[in-house]
Amino acid sequence: MGSEGSSPDRQAQVAVALQGKKVILCVSGGIAAYKAVYLARSLTLLGGDVRVVMTEAAQRFVGAQTFAGVTGNPVVTELFTDAPFAPHVELARGADVAVVAPATANALAKMTAGLADDAFSATLLSVRCPVVVAPAMHAEMWDHPATGANLAELERRGVMLVGPDAGSLMSGDEGVGRMAEPDEIVAVLASVLEQARDLEGRRVVVTAGGTQEPIDPVRFIGNRSSGLMGFTIAREAARRGGKVTLIAGPHNLAPPGGVDVVSVGTADEMREAVLQAAADADVVIKAAAVADFKPVQHSDRKLKKAAGPPDISLVPTPDILAELGSTPSLRKPGSLLVGFAAETEQDPRRLSELAVEKLRSKGADLIVANEVGSNDSGFGSRTNRAVIASSEGVADIGLVTKDALAAALVDTIAERLR
Ligand code: CTP
Repeated sequence: MGSEGSSPDRQAQVAVALQGKKVILCVSGGIAAYKAVYLARSLTLLGGDVRVVMTEAAQRFVGAQTFAGVTGNPVVTELFTDAPFAPHVELARGADVAVVAPATANALAKMTAGLADDAFSATLLSVRCPVVVAPAMHAEMWDHPATGANLAELERRGVMLVGPDAGSLMSGDEGVGRMAEPDEIVAVLASVLEQARDLEGRRVVVTAGGTQEPIDPVRFIGNRSSGLMGFTIAREAARRGGKVTLIAGPHNLAPPGGVDVVSVGTADEMREAVLQAAADADVVIKAAAVADFKPVQHSDRKLKKAAGPPDISLVPTPDILAELGSTPSLRKPGSLLVGFAAETEQDPRRLSELAVEKLRSKGADLIVANEVGSNDSGFGSRTNRAVIASSEGVADIGLVTKDALAAALVDTIAERLR
């Protein structure tokens, strides 16, 4: 049991990652609680020290005794006991990773609000380790804006999401809401434990969003970048111990926790902020979609319609990435420079060629080329189709969530910094 779909090598690595690790398994009340028993058993067989905390509702689906049996540890179900210590504090202390499986809509809402009215939620408020959630609920509840908003807030705080999968639900309906399979959750927990804090002590600069080049006080030249990719990278880098400065163009996103945010409007402002931060950065990641051109001049007063269509002459903005790539003195010796390439190219081979071209033209160490312009990739989408190019070759990442792309990119960066 455990990571059955992966190679024997990977299974061995998963076991190494879990060996002796204190894993808190928080079980909330859904039918998928039965799958949490398999999860507990897999994690235990792989060498994890698995401690289970259950909500009252979870105990309607599976008995605490079952978890005690498969983990060999007592199960926490009560907030108040006659023990001389608080069980949830004891549970949370020294934990390496916590996983909420299944995470019901109610559990996600309680985590978001920071409630602590039972042992389950009090434990989650007390842990200081990485937290992974594996949601399971009816498709309607998953689709509700309240659940979406809760998850967005939890992800902003660094909570990682696995699943839910699409398929047949207990209600007999088809839809998104099935808890991820235990093997998949084990794999995520292992990689969280492997990656934990591999950017510790590193200074990371990330740029995000588009810039806006003013035409007059109300109009600008801009692009459709939402900033989500850069924000996701900043959050991932911070979660892994990096000291992150996020230089962001105008956006509507909540800043990730533990990240210094510098807000800029134009390409010139972004250049100034980046050059200042790059001097002592170990890695500069230019995920921003900087406007390539700006009006030669902009009017201080709103241009009136009656004056007719304005003649707007454009000049290039400074290419910040190319400047950093061609002037080593602007950066810390040994630092890494990562650029992005937004391309309307669906063919991975062509995307790779463009990435390699930009690697050279920008003088970067890595280029992440992602497809923009289709519904499932690029600006505004939750997923990206991407490749990562370096002097050693091109890795095709495929179509993945921006979270997964951020994790893959930070893996590559951490590896190179080592
Ligand atoms: N970039 C930059 N400064 C600019 C324009 C782009 O630093 N004035 C950076 C972006 O942050 C990104 C990379 O350059 O990391 C590539 O951006 P992209 O728009 O894909 O490429 P361009 O250089 O603008 O070339 P083209 O639009 O012709 O593909």
